[in-house]
Amino acid sequence: MTSKQHTLFVCTTCASVWQDGKRVGSSGGEKLLRQLQELWQNWEFRDKFPIQAVECMSACNRSCAIAFVAEGKFTYLFGDLPIDDSASAVLKCASQYYLKHDGSLPWSERPEPLKKGILAKIPPLNKWARLKVDCCR
Ligand code: FES
Repeated sequence: MTSKQHTLFVCTTCASVWQDGKRVGSSGGEKLLRQLQELWQNWEFRDKFPIQAVECMSACNRSCAIAFVAEGKFTYLFGDLPIDDSASAVLKCASQYYLKHDGSLPWSERPEPLKKGILAKIPPLNKWARLKVDCCR
């Protein structure tokens, strides 16, 4: 386990219906967020792993999108998540992320809805800081 702060970002603009430049009704991202918040109430890691709604993570054509972020861990961005069929898988994967010291989420261990839609795996900043590489001078 870890005491590092973790965050589950959920895009609330994903899968929106637009009419005359305005969003109509609830978006798919908002529906997914509500499902996640409901499950999160009884999730064992909820005190260490809050859910944060965001307006966009530039994965707009791959909705719905979520991300796992924590200090010292890989950052993962996932897309193509079904609105009504992925909330429990997202929290299961978040549990795996929480329990790994570097947050790594191998394909074979991820729940099914998060196997295909990975959009980014960004290394933790501290991994590169340790190398003392200075390539920009
Ligand atoms: S609208 Fe969801 S990532 Fe841009």
